[in-house]
Amino acid sequence: MSSNSRCCIGVIVAIGVGLALIIGLVSTSLKKLDSDEVGIKYNTIQKTLDGEPKLEGLYTGPPGYEFIVFPNTFTTMTFNRLDCLNAEGVTITLNVEYQYKAQPKDIKKIILDFKDFDNYKKVLETTGEASLHEACSHFNTSQFQTERGAFQEEIRTALQKRYVDLMCIVTDLQVNNIARPSLYESAIRSKERAREDIKVAKSEEPRRLTEADTEILQAETQGKIIMNKAESNARIRNNKATAEAEAIRAEFQKEAEAYAFLLNSNGLGLTQEGFISYLGSRVIAAAKQPVYINLGTPAKTSYVTP
Ligand SMILES: *[C@@H]1O[C@H](CO)[C@@H](O)[C@H](O)[C@H]1NC(C)=O
Repeated sequence: MSSNSRCCIGVIVAIGVGLALIIGLVSTSLKKLDSDEVGIKYNTIQKTLDGEPKLEGLYTGPPGYEFIVFPNTFTTMTFNRLDCLNAEGVTITLNVEYQYKAQPKDIKKIILDFKDFDNYKKVLETTGEASLHEACSHFNTSQFQTERGAFQEEIRTALQKRYVDLMCIVTDLQVNNIARPSLYESAIRSKERAREDIKVAKSEEPRRLTEADTEILQAETQGKIIMNKAESNARIRNNKATAEAEAIRAEFQKEAEAYAFLLNSNGLGLTQEGFISYLGSRVIAAAKQPVYINLGTPAKTSYVTP
């Protein structure tokens, strides 16, 4: 082999190595962004961030640079069965979905604040949840039933207010399945039933009152009748007793007069003995049963002088 050809091989090897180096360098500094991406160049060696967001395309840059990539389309945020407390402290279960996108012009600031999309997404999620809780707490239970549209607007407002500070746009908000817990539902139902019962009772009240009044009236009338009857009975008895007492008094009066006549010297002029003997025979004569008495014999059995 001649020194000439050896030289040529050396040159070829040198060129080859050089080419490989160039290709290697170019390939490390050639980056592509897809149509749905937006990126910012980041130099991993010098730790510098490019100011200009880049859209779809092929880009070259210094060795060691890379793109920090964000989606350039709307991304869906979903909250499934999120429990929140409403204005009355009742738990409401929400399904909420919306689309969000970082403002492309603010990508650099977002990267400085949040490092990359994954971190940014986490902050957006917790902020979104906080907005839902806030909106939830402004509505009472009956409003969740009757003002669903207003509730959705409340969520949109709360979200937009917070997402503006995060340089993020929100669209296509959907709120579904506003479910109240079953315990609450059954409490509501029994309350409705109670309300119906009260209504029925109220409507029956006048009738019941009339009935009660009538019963009181009847009882009063009955009471009066009983009193009148009792009074009249008492009067009758009183009269009867008075009459009987009169009669007995009259009888004794007559008897007394008769005895006076027997004893009086102007009458029969009986001695005391004679009078007692007379009384004894009166008692025996008046008796309906046989009478056994132990009485001293009258002085005389007969007052007819023999
Ligand atoms: C719920 O809020 C509405 C509007 O503020 C109000 O009219 C209604 O009385 C409230 N309902 C209850 C049960 O507090």
